[in-house]
Amino acid sequence: MDQLLLLGVFICMLAILLTLIYGFHKVRRFQRFILNSFPGQMESSFTLALDKQFRQSEALAGIFIELGFKKSLPPTRGWAASPDLLREIALHTLHAHPKAIAECGSGVSTIILARCMQMQECGHVYSLDHSQEYAERTRQELERHGLREWATVLNAPLRFYDLNGEAWPWYAIEELPTIGFDMLVIDGPPEEVSRLARYPAGPLLFGRLNAGAVVFLDDANRHQEKKILQCWAKEFPNFRQELRECEKGCAILLKDGKKMLVDIDSVAEDRVQLMTDVDRSRVQQDSE
Ligand SMILES: C[S@@+](CC[C@H](N)C(=O)[O-])C[C@H]1O[C@@H](n2cnc3c(N)ncnc32)[C@H](O)[C@@H]1O
Repeated sequence: MDQLLLLGVFICMLAILLTLIYGFHKVRRFQRFILNSFPGQMESSFTLALDKQFRQSEALAGIFIELGFKKSLPPTRGWAASPDLLREIALHTLHAHPKAIAECGSGVSTIILARCMQMQECGHVYSLDHSQEYAERTRQELERHGLREWATVLNAPLRFYDLNGEAWPWYAIEELPTIGFDMLVIDGPPEEVSRLARYPAGPLLFGRLNAGAVVFLDDANRHQEKKILQCWAKEFPNFRQELRECEKGCAILLKDGKKMLVDIDSVAEDRVQLMTDVDRSRVQQDSE
């Protein structure tokens, strides 16, 4: 009887042991599966993120070389326009030579545009900013780079406009000169201001653009900006829309345009040449 009991206990313990070994084996397999597949995914998304950041560094390096900045620029992360968009607008400006540029939302983009005006030795940038604090910061940066005469940052507090029977908060534009603009860069107001915060730029500014003028809209990857582009496409069919692959998305609209938009890679070399010529004459003037 005792022997039978002992045999039963032995069989039970053996069964428990075998179950534990089997469970341990399964856990090890699962662990191996996680270690083999999940870190692989982690690695590829990490590499992708690194590639994207590297692309921005390359674009920023391009800006410094092609525009010949001698001083550091404000940060180009967070609220600022990303280097790839800044390079797009810089190379377009240097290629198309716009005389008058309007901008919604000042910052590092204003410095870039003003530097382009200085390089082509004519033209002016009018930048609207709803925040007195950030407007003043941009003015100080323009001063630091010796670019004050090429750009004006306008205090443009938000006020309500009646558009299509709705009240829309947008920049007060009384101080914006009543001239025709050749280029418009839209990077404000911030999306927190209202739904489709940048939509009013269409009804309020597109009519003030010259034929052939080009509009750049930052953050075109965002849902709100996509909706704005759809509204504009319906309301302004004479503006041809294109999308450029930029970190935050870049939409380009060409008014009454038949000509092709600039492919930045094809003009980059010419711009380096232009910069060299202009800088050479500046260096000559400085030494006289
Ligand atoms: C998207 S930002 C414009 C950025 C600008 N185009 C540039 O390239 O730097 C729109 C507005 O946000 C405000 N702004 C800029 N930086 C900010 C910050 N760090 N925090 C809060 N508002 C900011 C400014 O009033 C600016 O006009």
